[in-house]
Amino acid sequence: MNVDPSDWAILERLRRAFLNGTAGESDYWLSPADLAAYDATFAQRIGWKWDFVLEDLHRLGWSPPAGPLLDWGCGSGIASRAFLDQFPSSDVTPVHYWDRSAKAMEYAAHKARTRFPGRTFVPGTVETPAVLLLSHVLTELAPPQVEALLASFSSVTSVIWVEPGTYDASLALIAIRERLRQEFPPIAPCPHTGACGILAPGNEPHWCHHFAAPPPGVFTDPFWGKFAQMLGIDLRSVPLSYLVLDRRPLGLPKPDTARRIGRPWTNKVDARFIACSAAAVAEAQFPKRTFPELWRNARKDRLPSLQTWERVDGTIVNVR
Ligand SMILES: C[S@@+](CC[C@H](N)C(=O)[O-])C[C@H]1O[C@@H](n2cnc3c(N)ncnc32)[C@H](O)[C@@H]1O
Repeated sequence: MNVDPSDWAILERLRRAFLNGTAGESDYWLSPADLAAYDATFAQRIGWKWDFVLEDLHRLGWSPPAGPLLDWGCGSGIASRAFLDQFPSSDVTPVHYWDRSAKAMEYAAHKARTRFPGRTFVPGTVETPAVLLLSHVLTELAPPQVEALLASFSSVTSVIWVEPGTYDASLALIAIRERLRQEFPPIAPCPHTGACGILAPGNEPHWCHHFAAPPPGVFTDPFWGKFAQMLGIDLRSVPLSYLVLDRRPLGLPKPDTARRIGRPWTNKVDARFIACSAAAVAEAQFPKRTFPELWRNARKDRLPSLQTWERVDGTIVNVR
């Protein structure tokens, strides 16, 4: 990975704008060098989140509809590149890039053409995308801009939306899910299409978030070590929230399918975590004695995100 000394100043400026909430005010892509520095660093971390989400969609048996794909608020275009890596033979074409920054659209299209020479990439939007990708845009949009974006969903078959795993981003995605779920069913991370259990009384401390795993080499790579040190970023933690909507029937998961939310925690006798199912968002647990392998996985934070369980009074007695 190549990042020049001058690039650290770019990354610090971008990070300041992302953290202090001013990123939405004006176009911060001042030159292609900004996009290249972002693409080598922040965008890679966002790519790990996309891998988590797209691998989940693979497991659910989801496949992309044919037609144009739009990467909206594309930045350097990591979302659509991650998408094409995970679904290489998909019939999504052409791939369009939209951003308030012309520099970003050009950069994203150019980078994708180099990476996927056989495909067509177009800077600029498209009226009726089959697939709409949204990634880390919510905090930069004013309410009327979010409304305009949601109005454009009427012509889309599938929306895949990935945001940071913060309380605010999660609650914002949940509010959108609740507004749309009757006409545009959520298929992930939700294991059901009913009302979101996070919003039930008593669940105020919870938010729907998950953790992507960085590639193992990252922790021993001097480049990423310097990135973490220069920007004060914990490489181990890559939290995300996401929402996938699809108009095509995917088939509902079994009623006792549950999505783990956040990280599990363990003690000497059991493992516990917050689980989302059609019934509720509530704490679930399984005894170490009955599920030693699963307990070890929970301790190492390697518990599968989605499972089908048989539960008695919140205790898992059988895993399918
Ligand atoms: C944090 S970056 C995320 C870029 C990319 N989606 C990713 O995940 O790496 C947010 C992007 O949204 C774009 N953006 C902000 N406001 C926008 C708007 N009103 N319309 C279109 N794009 C916008 C910015 O220019 C920037 O490229």
